[in-house]
Amino acid sequence: MSVYGSSNIPGAKAPVEAELVVPGLKSRPISGANLSVTVSRLREPRVTAGALLEKKQAGRPISALTAYDWPTARMVDEAGIDVVLVGDSLGMVVLGYENTLPVTMEEMLHHTRAVSRGVRRAFLVADMPYGSYHGTVDEAVGNAVRFIKDAGAQAVKIEGGTMRAELVRRMTEAQICVVGHIGLTPQSVHSMGGYRVQGKTAEAMDRLQADARALEEAGAVAIVLEGIPRELAAKITSECRVPTIGIGAGPECDGQILVFHDLFNLTFAPRAKFARQYGDAAGFFAEGLAQYKEDVAGRRFPSDEESYHTGPGVKAGVVGELVARKA
Ligand code: KIV
Repeated sequence: MSVYGSSNIPGAKAPVEAELVVPGLKSRPISGANLSVTVSRLREPRVTAGALLEKKQAGRPISALTAYDWPTARMVDEAGIDVVLVGDSLGMVVLGYENTLPVTMEEMLHHTRAVSRGVRRAFLVADMPYGSYHGTVDEAVGNAVRFIKDAGAQAVKIEGGTMRAELVRRMTEAQICVVGHIGLTPQSVHSMGGYRVQGKTAEAMDRLQADARALEEAGAVAIVLEGIPRELAAKITSECRVPTIGIGAGPECDGQILVFHDLFNLTFAPRAKFARQYGDAAGFFAEGLAQYKEDVAGRRFPSDEESYHTGPGVKAGVVGELVARKA
């Protein structure tokens, strides 16, 4: 018996369980409360690179968010977000590293597998960690294949523009969808001299436009534009055939992406200018945790209703009688 999900415990209110099988999708038991939402989500086709391109062409904004584990993946997917990115930001917001550089292939694969089990509809992109695509092209392609084949991602994301064009071409030839990432690329934190907005001078603007062109020509299916001036992002977006997805790059991008933990105040760090907060999960958890601590200290948890009892006719001894008298 698993005791980590209350619905598994005998006597807990059992949710209505239904097993839905949709052609082309693995079945999964779903609970009564979310039935209609989940059913409609299961009926929606999986988002593909082509669907993202169609959105750009139709002028319909693409929504994207990071997720790093099964429950957040489910929430993001069930909210109808188009793209889920298992970002290497997980190193900072989940694993507690100082930056994204120490994140390993094994960590990224582990989290991508968890997210892929929670995503049904969204286009699932996995970030390739620092060092996994910086050696030979063959090594990099081999690592990218692991994200698709072993971890269930539909695409990989790599940082860098013109210097990655050949790699993007080789990955594309290996039938891997590649998302590019230019501008403020966090894996270059040391060479950038910190997390600084990029593309502010005329030369830097030209370079970034050339980077976007090179990635597109090499076959990238989308390009993340991070930490660049709104004006430059708008120009790149209008020149690019493939969708741009912005983070700190203004509203003219074809889509927007944010880090899940930024949305809900879960980073324990000052908020960046572009990171709009949509809830205070840290406050919510702190309140619940304080209440739990008090309830345990004051013997208000667990209650009799939250306790198991001996069967009828069983002599429970002195302790049992004491409990019975108290109840
Ligand atoms: O690692 C990450 O989360 C990212 C996005 C924020 C673009 O690269």
